Amino acid sequence: MSQQVQGVISRAKGAPVELTTIVVPDPGPGEAVVRVQACGVCHTDLHYREGGINDEYPFLLGHEAAGVVESVGADVTHLEPGDYVILNWRAVCGACRACRRGRPQYCFDTHNADQKMTLEDGTELSPALGIGAFAEKTLVAAGQCTKVDPAASPAAAGLLGCGIMAGIGAAINTGGVSRGDSVAVIGCGGVGSAAVAGARLAGAGRIIAVDLEDRKLEWARGFGATHTVNAREADTVEAIRALTDGFGADVVIDAVGVPQTYEQAFYARDLAGTVVLVGVPTPDMRLDLPLLDVFGRGGALKSSWYGDCLPSRDFPMLVDLYTQGRLDLDGFVTEEIGLGDVEEAFARMERGEVLRSVVRL
Ligand SMILES: NC(=O)c1ccc[n+]([C@@H]2O[C@H](COP(=O)([O-])OP(=O)(O)OC[C@H]3O[C@@H](n4cnc5c(N)ncnc54)[C@H](O)[C@@H]3O)[C@@H](O)[C@H]2O)c1
Ligand SMILES: [Zn+2]
Ligand SMILES: [Zn+2]
Repeated sequence: MSQQVQGVISRAKGAPVELTTIVVPDPGPGEAVVRVQACGVCHTDLHYREGGINDEYPFLLGHEAAGVVESVGADVTHLEPGDYVILNWRAVCGACRACRRGRPQYCFDTHNADQKMTLEDGTELSPALGIGAFAEKTLVAAGQCTKVDPAASPAAAGLLGCGIMAGIGAAINTGGVSRGDSVAVIGCGGVGSAAVAGARLAGAGRIIAVDLEDRKLEWARGFGATHTVNAREADTVEAIRALTDGFGADVVIDAVGVPQTYEQAFYARDLAGTVVLVGVPTPDMRLDLPLLDVFGRGGALKSSWYGDCLPSRDFPMLVDLYTQGRLDLDGFVTEEIGLGDVEEAFARMERGEVLRSVVRL
């Protein structure tokens, strides 16, 4: 028997999101239904609403969530009703060429639920990143559920399901930040501030936070930034170089994802340094760089999918650091809101007023 619950959908490009009734099927083989307890508002949800990801409207938004498993499909063995889980959007297959080579964090064939959630009239929904968790309940692949210590509150734990994991992972997994490195992070929203926190966890020496908003820079200091740059008042590249003895940072993380910030990251990096792109560009964006500079500056230009995380490895580890007081996840939660408040949360995100608005259910 399917069930009807409330969920937040995006019906058409740019149109305000709507809270409406959605139909959630019972879990089939390999699937689970999760009662969502908290779901953060990530910029990627806004990208979906704006048509920046694809045109498969209507979208069921929300993908940064924690909750409790309600029911599982017949053949699901690693999960049972009552389990406390963080939802992940890269459930690894175990069989593709990346998985077979022991690099499951790059899995090229991640999976989602086979069945579709729908509107009451039967219209199929596209769940954001295969999750769709701005909803009382959602249907996912069982592999998208990662069990963690219930001692972590849903609002905090859920953040690891996307942006905060992506940011921390951009620093510690993709960027390979290690003790004594200098790190610059361009764009200190939820993702960028998490990259700052990740750089601190990894023992970086100098951590430079860049944003357009002073309040973001203040929050970034709380997560470990040693220096801040307001990009409205200073040239990002010159400022980062000035703070690194004129050379540039060992690792520069672009947590905005537009050509301008990518180019800044490219030139604000020391010779043989690393650029990590974790912000998500839109299909119209183009980059124009002198190929000789790409060669001559050496190093690595990397992209970070979900912080190159392995949910089964990284979620429980970060929850442990949180419960030990070594990672301040609560600091990312600017406000807790209801399911009906997502549109307003997008506006606050665009105005730069929040790190994370978290829907509590
Ligand atoms: N790679 C991944 O797996 C992954 C996961 C989650 C989110 N993302 C992406 O990361 C990006 C950031 O997400 P978020 O939720 O933190 O968004 P956000 O809107 O909260 O943060 C973006 C920040 O960038 C700042 N900014 C914008 N333009 C800037 C500029 N020119 N110079 C300096 N700062 C600038 C803004 O003031 C804001 O603080 C988005 O593109 C999102 O889609 C990627
Ligand atoms: Zn795989
Ligand atoms: Zn996200």
